Amino acid sequence: MGSKGEKRVAVIPGDGIGKEVMAQALLVIEEIATRYGHCIGTEEALAGGSALDATGVPLPESTLDLCKRSHAVLLGAVGGPQWDDNPPELKPEKGILGLRAGLGLFANLRPAHVYPTLAGASSLKPEIVKGVDLLIVRELTGGIYFGQPRGISKRNGQEVGINTLIYRTSEIERIARVAFEAAGKRRGRVTSVDKANVLESSQLWRRVVSEVGKSFPDISLNHMLVDNCAMQLIADPGQFDVIVTTNMFGDILSDEASMLTGSIGMLPSASLGGRNGLYEPVHGTAPDIAGRDLANPIAMIASTAMMFKYSFGLEREAAAIETAIASVLDEGYRTADLMAAGGRSVGTREMGRLILDRLDAKGH
Ligand code: NAD
Ligand code: IPM
Ligand code: MN
Repeated sequence: MGSKGEKRVAVIPGDGIGKEVMAQALLVIEEIATRYGHCIGTEEALAGGSALDATGVPLPESTLDLCKRSHAVLLGAVGGPQWDDNPPELKPEKGILGLRAGLGLFANLRPAHVYPTLAGASSLKPEIVKGVDLLIVRELTGGIYFGQPRGISKRNGQEVGINTLIYRTSEIERIARVAFEAAGKRRGRVTSVDKANVLESSQLWRRVVSEVGKSFPDISLNHMLVDNCAMQLIADPGQFDVIVTTNMFGDILSDEASMLTGSIGMLPSASLGGRNGLYEPVHGTAPDIAGRDLANPIAMIASTAMMFKYSFGLEREAAAIETAIASVLDEGYRTADLMAAGGRSVGTREMGRLILDRLDAKGH
């Protein structure tokens, strides 16, 4: 998709801090469009808890339709305690899972990049996290999240809860290819993470990833068990370039990796593989701080940078957003989640405004 013509973006703010961080991201998009002369049309839609409240379902058909018709989708986050006791099909999270499946977004890129100025904000020692720049490639439409059979039923007088962890060769091949290709543009190293000492699905995963790796002779591949990987991420995160892994392991490891950067409020993501891309922060709706102007909007804003890069091929615009984020952090501004090593404390809106201002300065 070139830089000409209107770009249509479906915008799903979602619930909790999703709405707060999305408001800031939209200001950034508007500013980039003005500065660089792009026509970007945004249209809002409901998913998650707010969709449940308004329509009775977590993913209205109209939302999925809009997303299919758009060039890209932006999503805040969905969920919250008020819907936690809903039955499985009426959980807000089904909204996101339905979007991922419905749009065929099997490849989820979750970069964890430690800004030099934030090394002290991490809960780990600065010398451990300094220079860390890794990419988690998470399989997003398969594995235990989607396997059948699933559900809660009665068996021999008691309830059983069932989920099925299944991976097909084709699903492993395509996500492995994404990882090897990404590594080719980075430092040329892939770590495939599985639980092959116990799980058959992982034994197949390991074999297929190795097989795909033969077509990428310039990329080095190693395999790591997920429990060890969880430890290595804390012990020596600098060893990682690209991590490729299953849906659930990628979910867990990306929250862990976020703390290398200082906060989960820093981690953006891109979900690719279908006709268009979906961009969302890795974090959730943060009910504990929602509605108080405390949320860090950087993960959401950095997700828009990924949209400019991956959906629109606009690298300069993506870089302008990333540079503006780096400048504001260099100047010492921090949302509450990043205050471990001190700094100038600002709220969600102020952080958004600062990034917007730096966009101004760097835009030309
Ligand atoms: P969470 O990510 O919402 O919050 C975990 C902790 O991180 C909280 O202390 C929160 O305050 C903090 N945090 C998260 N984002 C932050 C930000 N931008 N700035 C500052 N602090 C931030 O995870 P949770 O509490 O386990 O989940 C809450 C709800 O969000 C659940 O309903 C869950 O299903 C949902 N969820 C949604 C998504 C998504 O929509 N993609 C992702 C994860 C969780
Ligand atoms: C994430 C979230 C989702 C996931 C939930 C909300 C369905 O935790 O995007 O990381 O587990 O994939
Ligand atoms: Mn998660």
